[in-house]
Amino acid sequence: MSHDLFEAAKAAMAKAYAPYSKFPVGAALRTEEGRVFAGANIEVAAFPEGWCAETTALSHYIMGGGGKITEIAVIAERMAKCSPCGGCRQRLAEFCQPETKVYLCDNSGVVETMTMGDMLPYGFQADILK
Ligand code: THU
Repeated sequence: MSHDLFEAAKAAMAKAYAPYSKFPVGAALRTEEGRVFAGANIEVAAFPEGWCAETTALSHYIMGGGGKITEIAVIAERMAKCSPCGGCRQRLAEFCQPETKVYLCDNSGVVETMTMGDMLPYGFQADILK
């Protein structure tokens, strides 16, 4: 991974709106064209209505035109390896391949590299719905 994806995730984390958990998270993904889309978590006083950084990044990706996702970086300043939640795994899997790389980061860089297939084995496949 080139360092810019990590930097994009970190810059996104700085924009998190997380007054309730005080747990800012940033995520950034890159498409095969080299476009980078980032996002942060956004919380709401009615707690279940907030959402994750990965989901914000996916929103930007869709609004930006989509494309094949080649890699994703996730960072949380208070956790060395913030692993995407179950809901975000399913959302990410919608637009990724099993071999898509996922970088779990700390404040200085990548701590662990995984793939979507590692993170969501035997996930729900929508082929029958298409
Ligand atoms: N959160 C994320 O943004 N991404 C994750 O992968 C895990 C959790 C957010 C949701 C909530 O705003 C805060 O972290 C604490 O759960």
